[in-house]
Amino acid sequence: MISPKSIEIVKETARVEEVLGEFIDLRRAGVNMKGVCPFHDEKTPSFVVSPAKGIYKCFGCGKAGDSVRFLMDHEKLSYPEAIRWIAEKYNIELEETVVSDDVKKEIEKKESLFIINEFARKLYHEHMMQTREGKAIGLGYFKERGFLEKTVNQWGLGYAPGERDFLKNELKRNGYKLHLAEEIGLLKPDKDFFRSRIIFPIRNLSGKVIGFGARTLSSDKKIPKYLNSPESEIYNKRKTLFGLYFSKTEIRKKDNCFLVEGYTDVLSLHQNGIENVVASSGTSLTSDQVKLIKRFTENMTVLFDGDNAGIKAALRGLDIILEQDVNVRLVLLPEGEDPDSYVRKVGSSAFHQYIEDHAKDFILFKVDLLLQEAGNDPIKRSKVVKDIVHSISKIADTLKRNEYIKLCSKLLDISEKIINNEVNGLIKSNIQKEQAKLNRPVFRSEEDWKKDSGPKVEKPVEKSFDSESDEAQERDIARIIITMGDKLIDEDKNIQVADYIYTNIVGIIETFENPLYADIVQEVRNAFEDGKSVTPSYFLHHHREDIQHLAIDLSAEKYIYANWKQRGIELQTQDMPEKNQIKDSWQAILRLKSRKLQKILKSTEIKISEAATENSPDLDIQIKAYMKLKEDLAQINKILGTVVLK
Ligand code: CTP
Ligand code: MN
Repeated sequence: MISPKSIEIVKETARVEEVLGEFIDLRRAGVNMKGVCPFHDEKTPSFVVSPAKGIYKCFGCGKAGDSVRFLMDHEKLSYPEAIRWIAEKYNIELEETVVSDDVKKEIEKKESLFIINEFARKLYHEHMMQTREGKAIGLGYFKERGFLEKTVNQWGLGYAPGERDFLKNELKRNGYKLHLAEEIGLLKPDKDFFRSRIIFPIRNLSGKVIGFGARTLSSDKKIPKYLNSPESEIYNKRKTLFGLYFSKTEIRKKDNCFLVEGYTDVLSLHQNGIENVVASSGTSLTSDQVKLIKRFTENMTVLFDGDNAGIKAALRGLDIILEQDVNVRLVLLPEGEDPDSYVRKVGSSAFHQYIEDHAKDFILFKVDLLLQEAGNDPIKRSKVVKDIVHSISKIADTLKRNEYIKLCSKLLDISEKIINNEVNGLIKSNIQKEQAKLNRPVFRSEEDWKKDSGPKVEKPVEKSFDSESDEAQERDIARIIITMGDKLIDEDKNIQVADYIYTNIVGIIETFENPLYADIVQEVRNAFEDGKSVTPSYFLHHHREDIQHLAIDLSAEKYIYANWKQRGIELQTQDMPEKNQIKDSWQAILRLKSRKLQKILKSTEIKISEAATENSPDLDIQIKAYMKLKEDLAQINKILGTVVLK
């Protein structure tokens, strides 16, 4: 544990503009500094740093904090990690207080493992750069493949010679514990693990070496082309992406991440100035890896080798990207090329051009490919539909999902309604499965209730929307917050729909008739305070079951315009709501306010007549309030284009 005194020193030393300056471009703006917010998508800077106060605040998305908070938020460090990060930057020696022996041992052990890996990395690297054998064989190989020394040095690449005990002897000589080196796979009981191979160090997000990939130089097909470090206390393959440490800044800047298969693909692209790239290292992508990428961008472009026979299988695996609400595009490289060979062949600008020209939306790519294969075979075609529906059902964002349903209905020549039903069916069953896993009560749809032949459970009575009630309008507000709360209502000002609604509704939350809908509005604030934002999936995975159910209902529900009129909602636009978020949210707010005001007006009228009969001194105030309310109402109704109540 770091002593409180040390923490204090670290906090005092850290200059917010210097710490943040490592990650974002900050420009002077009077006494403050300004930059483009790294936490949300924006073009005009609304991220303000105050060196004097040692804090930052984004006026777009509301993120705020100090140096430590920034590192925790932005670099996803834990509190002690953030403190250590700053201490390292400013060369502050940390005083450690005594912790339990177990914890201490664990920390020390991990530290030792990192140190041994770093030692091995350096050894292999220096061996390659400084010895005759290394230069001839290892470096020679890299050079032959077109890698520059700059690249070799930046990535710390190396060469492990053929000797049985090269690493072991060096470790021994320097006093390292051999059993630890064995634990991270560097040594086998009787010999070095990596021999006669070039070495690719694999780093974690903070740049520490957690493992290695090692490629043979032999073309003997019987020898595995790559040997990789095994999983260990410090290396979790599912949570690692090769290249992320060196690519993360550029990924954020370009707001896109290229995903390739191989170590050499990453190196080659970097060398050619394409630095927003990571490799899954030959294994299929995991959701943890997508989450890692999502910290830096919500856009991915997957590059497939031109001769990739396994594309179809790979496509299935990519659904997990959709689940994380990350946009995926796919590019198929020309026949026989992988990213490494192709960028070397055509250079970076032609490479970019190729990607621009050939990048296809993931689902459309899939539709094309599968349809081509299926031809006119009806059974195969129905399989294609199933497959596509499966993918669409994984799209977390309702609006996006609806767009795809429309599009795929055209491409597959199947009615939107059918696809929609299929997709909704899958979403519900997925959620049911998840809930079953959590051993929680299962969400039941209308159809389920009808179908149900099991033990009879009373169906909850659905409240009908009568014209006296404001529930329809309240539900409308909830719908907008849940399905599009994270959308920007105004690009320039970076105001999110949910925040906009919250600010406008907060004053009348108490008048909500349906407490659940009121809670949805309140969630905007709760989420904000928890440092989260209200995305559709925030509600879909809400710990409160009633909120989750509502979210599911609203997300699966098509916008049923026909019913709106009955519910007393006059729609001003012909567009689907998502096409016109601003107008839609704005009108929803006004509609609700209008109704609430009418009710308050009525009760004020009663109060006035009471005050008048009692000759109460309140009369004056009540009348003033009444006039003000009437004015507000008139204004709102004028905007809404409805008749002002007499
Ligand atoms: N891989 C592996 N084990 C193998 C083959 C491949 O771990 N036996 C992983 C490596 O991470 C490799 C990636 O899969 O980088 C892609 O494989 P491949 O395309 O064969 O390798 P390249 O990186 O392209 O290497 P090279 O360009 O030298 O052929
Ligand atoms: Mn290759």
